[in-house]
Amino acid sequence: MSRSAHPAGPRHADVLPEGHYAAPPADLNALDPKVWARTVDRGADGVVTVGGMSVVRLAEEFGTPAYVLDESDFRARARAWRTAFGAGADVFYAGKAFLSRAVVRWLDEEGLNLDVCSGGELATALSAGMAPERIAFHGNNKSVQELERAVRAGVGRIVLDSFQEIVRVAHIARELGTRQRVQIRITVGVEAHTHEFIATAHEDQKFGIPLAGGQAAEAVRRALQLDGLELIGIHSHIGSQIFDMSGFEVAAHRVVGLLKDIRDEHGVELPEIDLGGGLGIAYTSDDDPREPHEIAKALTEIVTRECEAASLRVPRISVEPGRAIVGPTAFTLYEVGTVKPLDGLRTYVSVDGGMSDNIRTALYDAEYSVALVSRASDAEPMLARVVGKHCESGDIVVKDAFLPADLAPGDLIAVPATGAYCRSMASNYNHVLRPPVVAVRDGEARAIVRRETEEDLLRLDVG
Ligand code: LLP
Repeated sequence: MSRSAHPAGPRHADVLPEGHYAAPPADLNALDPKVWARTVDRGADGVVTVGGMSVVRLAEEFGTPAYVLDESDFRARARAWRTAFGAGADVFYAGKAFLSRAVVRWLDEEGLNLDVCSGGELATALSAGMAPERIAFHGNNKSVQELERAVRAGVGRIVLDSFQEIVRVAHIARELGTRQRVQIRITVGVEAHTHEFIATAHEDQKFGIPLAGGQAAEAVRRALQLDGLELIGIHSHIGSQIFDMSGFEVAAHRVVGLLKDIRDEHGVELPEIDLGGGLGIAYTSDDDPREPHEIAKALTEIVTRECEAASLRVPRISVEPGRAIVGPTAFTLYEVGTVKPLDGLRTYVSVDGGMSDNIRTALYDAEYSVALVSRASDAEPMLARVVGKHCESGDIVVKDAFLPADLAPGDLIAVPATGAYCRSMASNYNHVLRPPVVAVRDGEARAIVRRETEEDLLRLDVG
């Protein structure tokens, strides 16, 4: 790796971005434990390590870019959710955040269930040996083939998302001579305080059946009439990257209200309620996420209180955290390729990945932090923008960040909190190959998803 010198970029005094990076951090070498995986540390030699492995060694062995995942942190977070909710509740990890066979095995060992939302996720779960009854199947437009496969496999629950699906699943189950356990996903009319694209409980959108206008009650009526279905509960997911518990409070209040109406109309007390996922994580030092035990306590109290007020038995609660488990456990390791200071503006730092391995910045204006990890530096802070190698000016990984002014091609930098929705939303844009996911634990590293090759790319090109 070269450490060539280059002209120093503009200093932060020249241009100040608004928001999180209005001022450089006091120490650019410090790694805020809020945003970095738990075993990440900077050694006396200045090189960052994770699970006892140096990032320089990881880059040599696995190349860059690479998602580096701290396995013990993943397991600890999964366990913390499991323990916080206890035996009276279920935790379904949302596989859409990041799924691989190793992850399925970890979840299995840590006692979590799994939420899948496509045939591909279901196939991954089953092929890694997850017991089908511990799988929940989600989605607003599951195909008939996907549904059939799920029913045949014996998944623990299918979350019904439309009137058509109620009929489809009932029909499939009857044909297969079985009764499928189902929940109905409703939209409770909550405006979650998050990005529009990841808010899911307001009425004007594609997910769920609206509580408003009696539609959810009608869906329940139909599901209860069909002998292919065993209606076990109501599901609500209000959105993603949420910090404020008040949205969950309103959702729980409305879901319990529906349970009460169901009891009054049908004489049935549904035994389960699923409050979805969506708990936020720290992407930058400004974010203050809650711990699983606080969330478990708050949600359990809300549901218990609402049920007591409605004279209902407290149903079994389930939750579906994805980001909150895997998000903080990984960082993306990049090699700096070019450093381009633009006078009076900022310095563009180009890395060997970009929007194909992290689309979140372009898609949601997501904020990330970044650090030089292959060495320490006591150079002055330089206002930087970390960009990728794609043919698009919106190809930004970190919009505003301070990096040391002596940053040079060949340096390794890392973007923390990229465990969720980065590899799982990665693309082959510009025929760039998707990076591996490298799991590190106790001084050992292994790829749990290998790097894509040109052969992989060309295999699909059959023209
Ligand atoms: N349950 C359901 C029904 C969901 O739709 C989702 C996420 C989850 C659970 C998990 O949410 P989490 O705890 O991970 O926030 N691509 C976006 C996030 C989309 C979330 C979709 N549904 C992002 O990168 O922020």
